[in-house]
Amino acid sequence: MSNPQAEASTARQLDLGLGLPSLAIEPDWKAQQRLWGHSFHPMSSYLASFPAALAHAFVARYSRPGDVVFDPFSGRGTAPLQAAAEGRVGVGNDLNPFAYLLTAAKLEPANPAEARTRLTALRLAWAGSAPEWQARADAIQADPAGGGPAPVAEEVAVAFHRRTFAQLLFIRAALDLDDRVDRFLAAAAAGILHGKSPSYLSTLMPNTFSMAPRYVREYAARTGFSSPERDVFDCLAAKLDRLFRQPLPRGAGIALLGDARDAGTRAVEALRERRLPERARLVVASPPYLRVVKYGYYNWLRAWFLGLDSRAIDAALDDAHHRAPYLAFLREVLRDLQPTLTEDGVAVLVIGDVATDRGRAIQHGLGLAERVWEEAAAPEGYHLAGIAVDDIHAHRKMTKLWGREAGRATQIDRILVLASGEAGRRRAVSGAHLPVDWTWPPRLRSL
Ligand SMILES: C[S@@+](CC[C@H](N)C(=O)[O-])C[C@H]1O[C@@H](n2cnc3c(N)ncnc32)[C@H](O)[C@@H]1O
Repeated sequence: MSNPQAEASTARQLDLGLGLPSLAIEPDWKAQQRLWGHSFHPMSSYLASFPAALAHAFVARYSRPGDVVFDPFSGRGTAPLQAAAEGRVGVGNDLNPFAYLLTAAKLEPANPAEARTRLTALRLAWAGSAPEWQARADAIQADPAGGGPAPVAEEVAVAFHRRTFAQLLFIRAALDLDDRVDRFLAAAAAGILHGKSPSYLSTLMPNTFSMAPRYVREYAARTGFSSPERDVFDCLAAKLDRLFRQPLPRGAGIALLGDARDAGTRAVEALRERRLPERARLVVASPPYLRVVKYGYYNWLRAWFLGLDSRAIDAALDDAHHRAPYLAFLREVLRDLQPTLTEDGVAVLVIGDVATDRGRAIQHGLGLAERVWEEAAAPEGYHLAGIAVDDIHAHRKMTKLWGREAGRATQIDRILVLASGEAGRRRAVSGAHLPVDWTWPPRLRSL
């Protein structure tokens, strides 16, 4: 049933200069604490991830416990993890194997006993073979290119204290990424690989991303850098304590590795195999932007630890498109997604309005959400509920200061809210006004 009050209020256009109906969703997620949400979210930093609170704003409005919530570009797994933590079935897909590893670790996690037992077994095995691994580590650090059976880049060898490096070589060889428990430990270890506080294994770089290898090599040589000794097993045990601060997500979860263009089809197959509801009631996703985010390059140390090839990752991902192929790509994604949504399904796409790439102006980046609607979603038969912005107040402030040019100087994400049909559109419009409970962890009565 339509909600006339909501429809009228939605019809009030905010002055965003978009030319499309705006959806008055208050960006309450901006007001939440940085680490709002399930304790698995900060397992490892991931570039361009959205906050768990943003995922909650839509999971709470547009899905119910038991519904499938899907993200074909899941990154670190924010949307499906938060959905699973709220009793939905969380499904995430990404083409980046590092993103897949993080999403799988969170959606198909080890339980605390399994993770701690495995860590103890690794600690014991290390104790029995430490001299051998230490000799190997020392040989590599003395001569990274030639000092062992598997050459290691100089910037990797220089990043760690000799004992930490030996322990890392050991657990890197011992962990099997196809095993659920080992994968959880590997993802947790990747999250503490580098950063500035004592919980990290190397202090060479900030936690958010790996700095350019050449810069790192030169910096280490110039300053005579030597990382403090950190015990991998102690740091990992402390990391597990932080991760397990909250109960495991109570909803089921599925992680998929592959291209978003057939992610919907693969998600349905995976759900069917597990005898779960087959269609998604909600999609929450932030597609790769026109901006160049090199997920491999900026994660080279984590990629080394996980045995992934940074260059291959960057070659495979769809981040560097110009506008026309980007829109064609999203149209294919939306085409595949359409039949996987329920009849009243809602799809929320967080789309950056990109004016610059690392300081350089780029063409065709502005008004992207409108173009996505016109050229990718409308032709595939979607219904438009409206566009919300993720920071109405900042936008108003900037507009007041700088006039309409403000949009050129700021990056403001647009949130395109689509529906698979008219029932979904009405649900999306009336749901925009629903109050959202921001208590986290949730009170018992809402479980
Ligand atoms: C903006 S990020 C999404 C971040 C995510 N919302 C989170 O909170 O972590 C976009 C993601 O799209 C992925 N990606 C790029 N091209 C892809 C493709 N063709 N198929 C699937 N995923 C792709 C990237 O690996 C990246 O994780």
